[in-house]
Amino acid sequence: MSHEQLPTDRPAVVTVGLPYANGDLHVGHLRGYVDGDLYARALRRIGQQTAFVCGSDMHGTPVAVNAAERDVDPEAFALEWHEQYRDRFPEFNVEFDYYGHTHEETNIDLTQEFVRSWLDGGYIVEDEIEVAWDTELDEPLPDRYVEGTCPYCGAEARGDECDEGCQRHLEPGEIEEPRSVRTGNPAEYRTREHKFLRLSEFQEYLQSFIDRVEGTDNARNQPREWIEGELQDLCITRDMDWGVDYPNGDGEELVLYVWVDAPIEYVAATKQYTERVGTDTYDWEAAWKPGGESRHGMTFEEDWQAESGEIIHIIGRDIIQHHCVFWPAMLRGAGYNEPRAVLATGFVNIDGDALSTSRNRAVWAREYLDAGFHPDLFRYYITTGSGLSNDVDFSWDRFAERVNGELVGNLGNFCYRALLFAARNYDGTPETTVSDEIHGQIEDAVESFETAVQAYDVRTIGQVAVDLADVGNEYIQRNEPWNLVGSEPDRAAQVIRDCIQLTRACAVLMQPVMPEKAQRLWEQLGESGSVAEAGLDAAHSPPPETFGEPTELFEQVESDTVEALTEQLRERVTATGDEERDADSAESDEETVTADLDPVETDRIGFEQFQELDMRVGEIREAEPIEGADDLVRLEVDIGVDRRQVVAGIKQLHDTDTLPGTRVVLLANMERAELFGYESDGMVLAAGEEADLLTTHADAPLGSRIR
Ligand code: 2FM
Ligand code: ZN
Repeated sequence: MSHEQLPTDRPAVVTVGLPYANGDLHVGHLRGYVDGDLYARALRRIGQQTAFVCGSDMHGTPVAVNAAERDVDPEAFALEWHEQYRDRFPEFNVEFDYYGHTHEETNIDLTQEFVRSWLDGGYIVEDEIEVAWDTELDEPLPDRYVEGTCPYCGAEARGDECDEGCQRHLEPGEIEEPRSVRTGNPAEYRTREHKFLRLSEFQEYLQSFIDRVEGTDNARNQPREWIEGELQDLCITRDMDWGVDYPNGDGEELVLYVWVDAPIEYVAATKQYTERVGTDTYDWEAAWKPGGESRHGMTFEEDWQAESGEIIHIIGRDIIQHHCVFWPAMLRGAGYNEPRAVLATGFVNIDGDALSTSRNRAVWAREYLDAGFHPDLFRYYITTGSGLSNDVDFSWDRFAERVNGELVGNLGNFCYRALLFAARNYDGTPETTVSDEIHGQIEDAVESFETAVQAYDVRTIGQVAVDLADVGNEYIQRNEPWNLVGSEPDRAAQVIRDCIQLTRACAVLMQPVMPEKAQRLWEQLGESGSVAEAGLDAAHSPPPETFGEPTELFEQVESDTVEALTEQLRERVTATGDEERDADSAESDEETVTADLDPVETDRIGFEQFQELDMRVGEIREAEPIEGADDLVRLEVDIGVDRRQVVAGIKQLHDTDTLPGTRVVLLANMERAELFGYESDGMVLAAGEEADLLTTHADAPLGSRIR
């Protein structure tokens, strides 16, 4: 089963994960919104009717915890952030058709309607579960009010998500060694009654959904593991008063879990868009509802594409489970259409290290604009800096390098040269037709663009105009029209005609990624309308006969600006690091990272792959240098279940006499190897130039697995 090619005659809706209305936006947030905006514009470019919607995520503990810290009412707190986001996105040329928030009436009503449909369909059960409780305050501790250890991977986790480890969603009661975020005390588990969405009812459906959903590989593959075996029901209520009430006056003290009303805002925002523009312009039901008919009673096989709109979600890779498991089940249970594609983006790192808001290692949206940079430069940098699902690094150095090289030096330079030459010598477009060579080059670029839209390849969509300008630069350089004007005027006119068509194609193709710059280039070509409204065919159609001299499209990023911004970031990160160290001297020192370190691998591995590494706590029992080998030592390592002989290259770095008794970590399923006649059956893990042996710090018994 595969989806029809885009564009289809059904409406598309492109969404981006809702930002929690709880703090400033940084470049890490902006990545997804820019990707979404680019993709929505590209869809329209190929003739697909598209609504681009989003909203602020107002409810749940992410908002309540931050509001409580400032001692303010969560609604007022969230609304203030919401208004900031609503105004900030257009500053980055992110133009939603509707940007709402989850506390709007439309979303509250629609959320309660969804729940009623689930009740009618028999998809909700009530159950008693253990929830974390703060005994000092005598209050429940939902989600982010509790922290502890992830039961799946052992990482430090929040109540409902293993945000620093395996990224799994955690159900209430699952987190181990819970402690209250409010008082710091160990939390106790108490029995409470809650409502559950019976995900197990959707198992067969989800398995077929995951086989046909399109998008990035991570979004299509990771969920397979989660939907194998019996699906755990999803607790959809919380002991809180900030949120959407559970409907029908039932469960009076309960509100719906934030992950219920948040994705429903995708639907509510589309509905509000229709309410604003009218159904003739955009029909939200045609996107979200299968021909007005509920799907109850239809088989999974016969109806999966029944008149569905093209629903495309762009999300961060930390919320794949919510969008590829919970959300399709929620939609299905309420009789709505399923997503056609889920695109999960990587994160943004800063200067090679993870972005950290608590450490102020972030480049803030405001800061970028205050530095005077055009938003389209950021849009280009962030969408083309890596493939969509990979992490991308932001550094001011690299930003300047790419802007100066690819935008100023290549795209801007080519268009400026072509337009200036044409304006000065022909008052605009020379009167001749485009050569076959250049027509073919433009055709190829348009085809790459179209193929990239089908493949959800945001990076290529963003890159295609710059690549075409490369062709243009090579062409103009090779043909030297400035040397032909006097001697071979026809050839000169041909070359410039070709360059003007290339410039026009660049304007058309760069519009999704750099909409404002594209519009300016369009006007420099003598056009008065909107480049966004000119179709992809406009890449081939002739430009106006006359136009005046252009101005430069892009400005060089100066090295002293880059130095100042880099220094500002470095000082800020260091200062925050110092404050934190003063406050908590036990904290590890990430600030000592030096430039000599390898950058973090950008290819991520799944938890399953990690689990393939069988690493055990061990203790060295014997150690002896291997004669004749410069740096090898033979070790006997006790790993509880076994005793292993290991050959390690640490002779120069450790005194073998002191090694026995040392606790180490042994990779027990390392391929066997033979070195200097000794079999090595495992690998002892060490870090850095000095082979600092990895160890454990408490009493994990020998043979314990590292998770
Ligand atoms: O993880 C987050 O930041 C959530 N606010 C995303 C919500 S996306 C959607 F489903 F609503
Ligand atoms: Zn985990």
